[in-house]
Amino acid sequence: MNRVAIGRKFARLATNAVVSRPRLWRVFRPVMRKQFDALAPQWDEIRSPGHLAAYEAALDALPAAPSRTLDVGTGTGDGALAIAWLFPAGEVVGIDLAAGMVALARQKVPGDLANRVRFDVADASKLPFDDESFDLVAHANMIPFFDEVARVLTPGGHALFAWSVGADTPIYVPLERLRNELEPRGFVDFAEFEVGAGTALLARKAQTS
Ligand SMILES: C[S@@+](CC[C@H](N)C(=O)[O-])C[C@H]1O[C@@H](n2cnc3c(N)ncnc32)[C@H](O)[C@@H]1O
Repeated sequence: MNRVAIGRKFARLATNAVVSRPRLWRVFRPVMRKQFDALAPQWDEIRSPGHLAAYEAALDALPAAPSRTLDVGTGTGDGALAIAWLFPAGEVVGIDLAAGMVALARQKVPGDLANRVRFDVADASKLPFDDESFDLVAHANMIPFFDEVARVLTPGGHALFAWSVGADTPIYVPLERLRNELEPRGFVDFAEFEVGAGTALLARKAQTS
């Protein structure tokens, strides 16, 4: 098995383990960070074509433009930048564990987006943001940390989870499993998307009464 295949197997193993037991993330974190730092210079070439198609379909289905978005595990930033172009008044923050990914994402921010798009190094398992500070929390091909997503989203805000090649994506959580984690945390209005091989789930955090 070559290094890429081993890396893909490791990503799936880590995803399954961390979704079941988020505390295991501390075991996987150093290897994951090293792996994605090493992949950063090639990332834009090796990811699958149309890798954000399902992510973008879910964005198109949002009932209103988000004013503050977090793109979690942003990689080289294309998801965050797509959101910024689609919603011209919104502020977008992209975070990633790998400093190499964040450095490349920062280089992609054109001057006319510089005042509302930002990329930071941060860990999704412990987000450095206040409670209820985003009205969209988006993930493309990223291990979800459900408690943190629920914490930083405003009531009525949306969470988005997308997988570039569905169940063949190395970091992948089945849509049913996502729903099972999100429902007890107060999420409603689930919508599923399929574009080519890509899949995505959109869910709304219920308003508190
Ligand atoms: C498969 S890549 C996806 C990148 C991008 N979203 C895309 O679809 O092109 C996963 C990214 O998530 C980052 N990542 C993994 N675990 C993370 C965590 N706990 N916090 C922040 N970023 C994380 C990795 O460094 C990597 O850049």
